[in-house]
Amino acid sequence: MRIGNYTFEKLKEKYGTPLYLYDETIIINNLNTYKTNFKSDLFQTEIVYAGKAFLTKYMTQLIKRHNLALDCVSIGEVYTAVKAGFDPEKIVFHGNNKTEAELIFALNNRVGTIIIDNLFEAELLLNLQSETYRPKAMLRVNLAYDVNTHKYIKTSIEDSKFGVSVNEKSIQMIKRLSESKKVNFIGLHSHIGSQILEEDYFYNHAKIMLKIYHDLKINQQIDLPQLNLGGGFGIKYIESDQELDLPVVLKKLIKTVEEESLKYNLNLEKVLVEPGRSIVGNAGYTLYTIDQIKKTKHLNYLFIDGSMNDNIRTALYQAKYEAIIVGKENETPTTNYKVAGNACETGDIIIEDIKLPTAFPNDLLLVKNTGAYHYSMASNYNRFPIPAVVFVNDNELKLVVRRQTLADLIRYDQSS
Ligand code: LLP
Repeated sequence: MRIGNYTFEKLKEKYGTPLYLYDETIIINNLNTYKTNFKSDLFQTEIVYAGKAFLTKYMTQLIKRHNLALDCVSIGEVYTAVKAGFDPEKIVFHGNNKTEAELIFALNNRVGTIIIDNLFEAELLLNLQSETYRPKAMLRVNLAYDVNTHKYIKTSIEDSKFGVSVNEKSIQMIKRLSESKKVNFIGLHSHIGSQILEEDYFYNHAKIMLKIYHDLKINQQIDLPQLNLGGGFGIKYIESDQELDLPVVLKKLIKTVEEESLKYNLNLEKVLVEPGRSIVGNAGYTLYTIDQIKKTKHLNYLFIDGSMNDNIRTALYQAKYEAIIVGKENETPTTNYKVAGNACETGDIIIEDIKLPTAFPNDLLLVKNTGAYHYSMASNYNRFPIPAVVFVNDNELKLVVRRQTLADLIRYDQSS
């Protein structure tokens, strides 16, 4: 098995392990799936890549080349994007607890759109002394709409930390924002959760949002021009995951928005989605070396040279992955293994249980679908350096993030 024109042995030789690998052609295919299917004759559409899934300067430039907008959730992400030459006008700035200083940072950097997460933040923004720059703004709403996904990545259940309920108070704020000279208020935002694999949630979500737009129009005479439906499109991690047929889902989502907005006679100018995982998730792999193999009374452990530091998702969300032993893809799986990392933590498991051909020390283990929320959630727990990130594009290899060194680990430490 290869990625682009490169064997995994070659990639290990060049960059070492553990190693994050991306197949750039898959990312580009994913972007194009959105661009070709999420479009309408009735309104403009925009794909806003959610940088939290994976963001580096190189990734930002790729997003820029393909003309997408960028969801940034911290000033660190805004800084990365701006330093990579991304047009700040195309940045959508998120966060449930933006401080005044962070809002000022965003305004100073001429960030295009601010997503206001709650009423406190709305007041902050309205009271900022920014004289010259008038950003676009949206208000994030919480629909108390539950979806089937891990509870840590549901974002729109009642009492969620994100967004505001649609009630008298928030409607008053929508009015104030619409009349404000400080911001150009363009609409509402709602993101229902992540890794959602049942398509109906997306259509129902759109219907609920458009009903809110209708009510605002009828009852408040507020006709909002833009609607941001967030991300959340799930990917297939393991064989038993029921994969979303993304082209079909996106087309149907557009159709739903078109039908509802015609039904309600709305004047929607633009509809946005904010995918993260479904852009980069299936384009990423993590390559590990199997160092030691340990048998216990009931288990066969594979000890790899990475850990929860490069993949926290198994520990945090009980996520499941498929993997191969490089060069043994066609051999019959014979043994059940538990793949554990080298961190000092019992919960440091990458794969709970996987049947693989017999493994030996120095074999390479390739874990699939690790492109989203892996590098971006990596840590230095136990003072392990964070692995390098390499993009492969047919014949070209690109070191996108260099491997941390031991010296990097003490870089910020001050001596007494
Ligand atoms: N928009 C907003 C406002 C979001 O909060 C998120 C994700 C997205 C878009 C992108 O969602 P996606 O298309 O990637 O599902 N660390 C977790 C995922 C956290 C998602 C947070 N918000 C994981 O590893 O599963």
